[in-house]
Amino acid sequence: MRRRLRNILSLADFEIAARKHLPRPIFGYVAGGAEDNISLCADAPAYRAWSFVPRVLVDVSQRSQQVELFGNAYTSPFGIAPMGISALIAYEGDLALARAAEKTGIPMIVSSTGLIKLEEVAKAAPRSTWFQAYLPGDDAGIGALLQRVQNAGYRTLVLTVDTAVLPNRENNVRVGFSTPVRPTLRLAWDGIVRPRWSIGTLLRTLVKRGMPHFENAGAMLGVPIISRDAVRQFPLRDRLSWPHIDLVRRLWRGNLVLKGILSAQDTRVAAEHGVDGIIVSNHGGRQLDGAVAPLITLPEIVRAKGPMKVMIDGGIRRGTDVLKALALGADFVFIGRPFIYAAAIGGEAGVAHAIRLLAGEISQDMALLGVSSLSELGRDRLAPAMDMIPPALCRS
Ligand SMILES: Cc1cc2nc3c(=O)[nH]c(=O)nc-3n(C[C@H](O)[C@H](O)[C@H](O)COP(=O)(O)O)c2cc1C
Repeated sequence: MRRRLRNILSLADFEIAARKHLPRPIFGYVAGGAEDNISLCADAPAYRAWSFVPRVLVDVSQRSQQVELFGNAYTSPFGIAPMGISALIAYEGDLALARAAEKTGIPMIVSSTGLIKLEEVAKAAPRSTWFQAYLPGDDAGIGALLQRVQNAGYRTLVLTVDTAVLPNRENNVRVGFSTPVRPTLRLAWDGIVRPRWSIGTLLRTLVKRGMPHFENAGAMLGVPIISRDAVRQFPLRDRLSWPHIDLVRRLWRGNLVLKGILSAQDTRVAAEHGVDGIIVSNHGGRQLDGAVAPLITLPEIVRAKGPMKVMIDGGIRRGTDVLKALALGADFVFIGRPFIYAAAIGGEAGVAHAIRLLAGEISQDMALLGVSSLSELGRDRLAPAMDMIPPALCRS
């Protein structure tokens, strides 16, 4: 394992290793976006449109990347975004992510489409875990879910609000992926040619934990992950609107975060409804294809945020990306795919390695930029890049 991780020098290297490790449908599910991958491919290049203006001869020997968010001191300004079915991608994926986050002092958001009970993840990592929910469309269902999340001890609730309906993920169909997973000959073959995953993740899970279920969608146990004809239920989600946020605000005593905001108008409305923070996000390009890259709307959103915290995700892969987001006014950032690739190839140690790599880059970049604390970052540290570097060939 150590040797495997030694060759991983950046977050991008995890994707290269994961492509060789995961069956084609599973890798395709993680890497892909919606329809033509327009938003997916726009997220990272938005960061390249900015360049730095470093200051020199500044004593940066005492620099710190610590950040305070919702009363917690985090060791770095980044966390792990919620990712569904992590435990099918990596053995006990949610636990690997949560434990690494807990040990390194960063937050990890547990997905409501997870396969490990939210209570078990909270127990493994009580300080670092937040919970992400897709709200059920009925008031009783909302109340029951919030009660369950509160009972498990979560203090920060993230509501993902960019999913009124399921998106068109024809990419998944093309690579043979569906949820619940439908057993087919092709899927069996995809597993056979990736024996490390088939034995180390799938078989090990079935033997040690039994058939995984969608554990966190509501107050009750959901459908099994592998099934011939079960359909994943997203009842009545397209009727959700701001009064539902008011209901949640009345019922939920902890921090309330909305994930999937991309407009300054919605930012203002969220602040009026008593929301504590937002995650500016196009869901990693997995919902509305063509939705704007979050970094593009970030400055306008920061101007509209009022007392809320503003976080951002999508395409962040380098320490320099993190610092650019903060310089444009974000309080914190989240990263998705690289961490689940890290869990797939290296479990908890892989995720810890990813966290260390990114924290190391941030520390170096702060020194080279001439800042000792993240609060020194502002728009004056950035200039528009003269030429857009042509985006790296977008593989998925
Ligand atoms: C495999 C996978 C599963 C995801 N599942 C969820 C989810 O259950 N809930 C959610 O709010 N976002 C989900 N997302 C979106 C991420 O939380 C995040 O917004 C996105 O991955 C950030 O972009 P990045 O992967 O480029 O860092 C998922 C993303 C991936 C890659």
